Amino acid sequence: MNTIRIISVAGARPNFMKIAPLMRVMRERPSLTPMLVHTGQHYDEIMSKLFFDELDIPTPDLNLEVGSGSHAAQTGAIMERFEPVLIRERPNLVIVVGDVNSTIACALTAVKLGIPVAHVEAGLRSFDRSMPEEINRVLTDAIAELLFTTELSANDNLMSEGIPKERVHFVGNVMIDTLLSHRERAECSDIHQRLGLTGPYALVTLHRPSNVDCTETLGGIIDALNEIAERLPVIFPCHPRTRNRMEQGGSRTLAPGLRLCEPFGYLDFLKLMAGAKLVLTDSGGIQEETTILGIPCLTLRANTERPVTVTEGTNQVIGNERQGIVKYAFDVLDGPSIQGRIPERWDGKAAERIVDIIEHTL
Ligand code: UD1
Repeated sequence: MNTIRIISVAGARPNFMKIAPLMRVMRERPSLTPMLVHTGQHYDEIMSKLFFDELDIPTPDLNLEVGSGSHAAQTGAIMERFEPVLIRERPNLVIVVGDVNSTIACALTAVKLGIPVAHVEAGLRSFDRSMPEEINRVLTDAIAELLFTTELSANDNLMSEGIPKERVHFVGNVMIDTLLSHRERAECSDIHQRLGLTGPYALVTLHRPSNVDCTETLGGIIDALNEIAERLPVIFPCHPRTRNRMEQGGSRTLAPGLRLCEPFGYLDFLKLMAGAKLVLTDSGGIQEETTILGIPCLTLRANTERPVTVTEGTNQVIGNERQGIVKYAFDVLDGPSIQGRIPERWDGKAAERIVDIIEHTL
């Protein structure tokens, strides 16, 4: 029997939880031959391998091992190394997820060889083209044949960019598939004991260039976190980019309650999020995960490409100014608990829907 040959691409940490349910569902379908390519954009044990182990993602068939570099160097290296793989394997479809450099690099390489691309998490827009991810999103969507969206605002964005309607499918959120299927396992994590946490705490992640690359901006955010840490412990797992910048910038003195640590694995981090009084972040995915968990989220950015987390979820977009951060954080700590709704189709079945559509279309 001729099967449909599909190469899925994962490159950076936020891709791994999106690719996991897709690989699981595809491997259950006899009509499909799935293959996984890791670009190597993220390569540290703690940024990559740990997630493959915890999320039961099959070992990649191939690792392009591109590593870090400037945008052009990284994107170019991925394209150069992915092209011969496509020529050799001749897949019927390439699946890319999210908005990282690996996403656009592999999509572009595939379409130039006449291989159709499916983009999972299509249509999200911050309307801020100074974000590298926004460029990656717009370009990937412009060349993809199948576009799978997580929220209806994404369908509207794609329509207004002239993407034909029949290419766009509102399927829900694969990252939430992963969260729901790992929630019970995460409950068993002993991360609270390991960190000695017995009462309320806040959890922080920061890695956007707009927050961490400028010493003054990063300093203002640290000052705000120091102030919040006077009221409750603030757990701050540090992305390698952020740690590098803090070291370069002659770091501020940290309040005793502001606890910098290494990044956590998926299960420990999920348990920490689920138990937090408050999450402060500039991540895209964490805005969605806190919405599902019902945990208040303050997004330290000027915008979000995930508006449903604000209109229906527990997210507030508050910018990155010191005073604002402290004010909103104290409002959450002192105010009534935030009630959110679960967005439509964030029900753990997005990967099933996507694979159904792919089987039907190809
Ligand atoms: C990338 C994505 C971003 C995503 C983020 C999640 C792009 C343009 N950006 O940003 O959208 O939200 O991943 O983490 O694709 N480094 C390590 N070890 C690693 C990986 C990176 O030490 O395993 C360090 C290197 O110093 C590197 C820096 O982090 O230069 C930045 O890595 P890079 O992949 O360029 O971008 P991220 O900031 O991680």
